[in-house]
Amino acid sequence: MQFRYKRIVFLTGAGISAESGVKTFRDAQGLWENHKVDEVASPQGFSRNPVLVWTFYSQRRLQANSVQTNNAHTALADLLHIYEKNNLQAALITQNVDTLHERAFGALPSKHFIDIHGTLSRSRCTKCNKLFSDRWAYFDGEGKIIEDHADHLWSNAILQTLLTMPRRNSLGLPLSPCCSDLLRPDIVWFGEKPLGVEKAIEHLTHCDLFVAIGTSGNVFPAAGFAAVARKAGAHTVCINLESPENAHSFHEHILGPASEKVPEYIGKL
Ligand code: OAD
Repeated sequence: MQFRYKRIVFLTGAGISAESGVKTFRDAQGLWENHKVDEVASPQGFSRNPVLVWTFYSQRRLQANSVQTNNAHTALADLLHIYEKNNLQAALITQNVDTLHERAFGALPSKHFIDIHGTLSRSRCTKCNKLFSDRWAYFDGEGKIIEDHADHLWSNAILQTLLTMPRRNSLGLPLSPCCSDLLRPDIVWFGEKPLGVEKAIEHLTHCDLFVAIGTSGNVFPAAGFAAVARKAGAHTVCINLESPENAHSFHEHILGPASEKVPEYIGKL
């Protein structure tokens, strides 16, 4: 097998999951639904009203469970597996928390996968920061405690929780098995540091191809990754429905829906 590029970095944003039915951030009715961002996506919001925040993320976990990966997620997962098998390096950095890349990897998770904004499929102890695989929905849409996790909601084998059900406090909030302190979603909130940036920069400064998919190029540090890769000598490609904010960082633009354009582009690599 011949590979034109030996070290690839893919960066994905909400647009790659749009055709799976996940709303993008900059849609008119974006992902924050009827909530102010600082109420549900900031450490201060969580301190003020953890039930509201867990209600919001419970709904997002249920939504993530109800959508399916599309051809773009699958094509990327397949390419990462092929590269790993051939001792080449393809890294996938995602800003999405929707778990669809993880699900497309299936039983073979990639060594080079970085979810810089966290994921809906992990919780974190607020005391010691220990991470737990956790996909439970703790509250219904009205903020009422879901006592029984109704197995039918978790029928997909990949979505089966790996954590024995955490204990709850009197408000129904989940407590960490390690410290018996509050668990929070392992999501990067406003004002918090993205995850794995050093590792991402290491990949970016050594890659020969950088491909951004379905991201508007508005939010840093990810919006600066194309420029870093380009400066390091990589060919930079953008696959998006429209031209992104950071369009000048790309050598090549492919306009169109991710589920069509990503498999097409990957097929030519
Ligand atoms: P955005 O909602 O900002 O941008 C989505 C991009 O995908 C837009 O440029 C759309 O044109 C494009 N798009 C929509 N449908 C598409 C399709 N079917 N195929 C290809 N492209 C499509 O989402 P992100 O760039 O991911 O951060 O947003 C970045 C970050 O902003 C998010 O991770 C979030 C938000 O603040 C945090 O939560 C920390």
